[in-house]
Amino acid sequence: MAELKGILLAGGKGTRLYPMTRVASKQLQPIYDKPMVYYPLTTMLLAGVRDVLIISSPEDTPRFQDLLGDGSQWGIRLSYQVQPEPRGIAQALVIGEEFIGEHPVFLMLGDNLIYGRLDFLRTAVQDLGDGATVFAYRVRNPSEFGVVEFDASYQVLSIEEKPKAPKSDWAVPGLYLYGPGAAKKAHQLAPSGRGEYEITDLNRLYLKEGKLRAMPMGRGIAWLDTGTPQSLLEASNFVHSVETRQGLLVGSPEEAAYRMGWLSADGVRACLKDLPVGNDYRSYLERILAEAGQG
Ligand code: TTP
Repeated sequence: MAELKGILLAGGKGTRLYPMTRVASKQLQPIYDKPMVYYPLTTMLLAGVRDVLIISSPEDTPRFQDLLGDGSQWGIRLSYQVQPEPRGIAQALVIGEEFIGEHPVFLMLGDNLIYGRLDFLRTAVQDLGDGATVFAYRVRNPSEFGVVEFDASYQVLSIEEKPKAPKSDWAVPGLYLYGPGAAKKAHQLAPSGRGEYEITDLNRLYLKEGKLRAMPMGRGIAWLDTGTPQSLLEASNFVHSVETRQGLLVGSPEEAAYRMGWLSADGVRACLKDLPVGNDYRSYLERILAEAGQG
């Protein structure tokens, strides 16, 4: 199969986080000890994606470039494109059409945090073909999310946005897998009542063709999204708890690239130069090298 490409969508208005998002977008805000975008980026790397397009607003795209660079420091490729206005999540595939080419693509929202074993992602990639896969996460309050209903063989039966009478407890998190040809399909969409190119509408096109599968994420996975001040605090507390207990960092692209074999020990050492002495993130990377006998 052609290499899986990644699109990280990190624009949007961030209205619920105002005034925090007045001068820097939501995905640049901290989740405990790192910028939010580090977390979905790390998830992408651990899912095997080495070539990522970051899409953001005209104001914020240069800030992501400043923060993340071209990825060569981590042995990956990062490129950038602008979404002139937040006209919907499905628009990311149209903007990224050339980048995607004939490749399958993993689209992830920059404000989603996934923590736990990622085997389910790798399995979904293997089974993708030319269809699409949405993930499914059991929640207490499905009416607040996109909701997916599926049969015993994981074929999707329905997918609805914030339904009053949800047909299942399975919410659709902000990560999606599409086989080759997704951008062409996204071109067929018309804007919704709220003027957006809806990702649910794109998924419904796949559903109509019988090509939409659901991949449930087990209960050992944590899925958090971080669109409100409260969920931002909860995500920070979650990361703080895990990191303090384990002494391991959640969401370090350096560590992910190193463990994927894309960044050498020398590469990690080069990254240290950008981190001030006495900084915890730096100490963590030094510890990883020491534990690997590379210190
Ligand atoms: P939302 O949380 O739906 O929107 P938002 O980030 O603008 O926040 P708010 O509702 O508080 O105004 O967006 C989900 C994610 O998708 C988030 O990471 C922003 C991103 N996004 C875009 O980059 N472009 C878009 O056109 C849309 C709709 C969302």
